[in-house]
Amino acid sequence: METKLLFQDAAGLATPLLAVFAVDVSIGKDADPLVALLTTSDAVSNAAASVLATGEFQATLGEQLLLHKPDGLKAERLLVVGLGKAKALSVDGVRKAAGTAVRAAKPRGVREMAIAFPEDHALDDEHLENLPPTLLSRSILEGALVAELDWDTYRSDRKDRSVDALTLVAREVEETTKKEIQLGFDEGRVVGDAQNFARLLVNEPGNVLTPTELGKRAKAMCTEAGLKCEVYSTEKLLELGMGAFHAVAKGSAEPPALIVMTYEPKLEKGKTLAKDAPVMGLVGKGITFDTGGISIKSADGMEKMKYDMAGAAAMIGAMRAIAALKPAVKVISVVCSAENMPSATAYKPGDVLKAMSGKTIEVLNTDAEGRLVLADGLHYAKTLGCTHLINAATLTGACVVALGMINAGVFSNDEDAYAKFDGALKISGEKFWRLPCTDDYKDVIKSQIADIMNTGGSRWGGAISAAMFLKEFAGDTPWIHLDIAGCAWNEEVKPWQTKGPSGVAVRSIVEWVRSFA
Ligand code: BES
Ligand code: ZN
Ligand code: ZN
Repeated sequence: METKLLFQDAAGLATPLLAVFAVDVSIGKDADPLVALLTTSDAVSNAAASVLATGEFQATLGEQLLLHKPDGLKAERLLVVGLGKAKALSVDGVRKAAGTAVRAAKPRGVREMAIAFPEDHALDDEHLENLPPTLLSRSILEGALVAELDWDTYRSDRKDRSVDALTLVAREVEETTKKEIQLGFDEGRVVGDAQNFARLLVNEPGNVLTPTELGKRAKAMCTEAGLKCEVYSTEKLLELGMGAFHAVAKGSAEPPALIVMTYEPKLEKGKTLAKDAPVMGLVGKGITFDTGGISIKSADGMEKMKYDMAGAAAMIGAMRAIAALKPAVKVISVVCSAENMPSATAYKPGDVLKAMSGKTIEVLNTDAEGRLVLADGLHYAKTLGCTHLINAATLTGACVVALGMINAGVFSNDEDAYAKFDGALKISGEKFWRLPCTDDYKDVIKSQIADIMNTGGSRWGGAISAAMFLKEFAGDTPWIHLDIAGCAWNEEVKPWQTKGPSGVAVRSIVEWVRSFA
């Protein structure tokens, strides 16, 4: 999708479809909705006035009203998209409304469209004050790009219904505001594309996206983005002593891939990074298919386990965005990719493994494989010089039981690193809920015969046992663990999103990294 930013009265823009956002400005729970358009263009307001006066459009989030040949506008259609209550206006709402506009255009065969940048006319500034121009334009771009993607690449009856061009149209404003809007527009483009890149990887079936293929895709992305990328396999795992990662991989005929992507900031001439400058380590779980191994999963819904590399995809997507946004901080991403299979060469319950860090692990369940590959990934990232770690993984069903599919889980061993992550969420608009991993839980993974075991002794608090396991390998290094099992796959169709891979965590990881620059 081509994207363009224009500064002019939206009424004068010739386009097949102009979308404008609307809020409900009524006060009080029982009051009738009072709809206001977020535009300063009188012509746009007038065009919708008589329909809005009927009260049939209430501006709830994702609600749509389509007018053909709107009076006084150059646009062929005017699409009014609801944002919900003005009082509750949020970046996330704006992102969803932009997505709604795009997804309303697609089935209508509309190829080109415009979105009117939200401007407050009917609203007092108070409502938009938490939504600075940069954040608004960024969210619109992200929401639109993410909404545009559909999963029809494997259908032979594919009907191309894409929106090829999107214009964001804001009124003439002073230069500084223009710059702010432009900045958000550019960032939104980068981050939205990166999120879609991750989603496309997750959508790929296990027979196509093997660990080797994931390595190839990461390498190709890095070459294009100007990042260094190394892809290793079994030999390197053995050489590094990655006994945990290797154990998971050895049941499959598909060789594993250890993918290392590096971003080095280019500083101005004569400047160097401080000796104690942070080095960010992004570690991803890349199980291209999780059968459970010898502790095999039930057949019901197993096909979804192609998404068990969503953590890896999030990191690869994040690296793509980082390469484009160029923060002044070094970033190394380590992706551990394997296929978890039952076979004559598979690892077994009861096996004792030796991780790269030297810790010994008793395997209780071969389906708890994600933490094993991450254990070696986290330790390896530290040996590469990472001072701060973040990992993302579709790690536990227990996290889905705990938080459902709205919030993903976040764990941390460091308050400063967590505070920065919390700040990143304010920009990304993603929903993560913190769960504990304090040493009170340490005993849950104590083994009789090895240092630790790969599942908790009981079934309670399974997301926490997994986090406690990873924490052993993060050690004293500030570390964030994202359990995205419940949020990496959208189960529901919404006006702004289709079912399937969500690309969750890309945006938050990128912002977290930037907060260290
Ligand atoms: N990839 C799964 C996590 C998962 C399970 C995601 C269900 C989404 C839905 C992971 O490898 C796994 O199987 N974890 C086990 C751990 C258990 C054996 C301790 C789980 O959550 O059941
Ligand atoms: Zn598993
Ligand atoms: Zn898994």
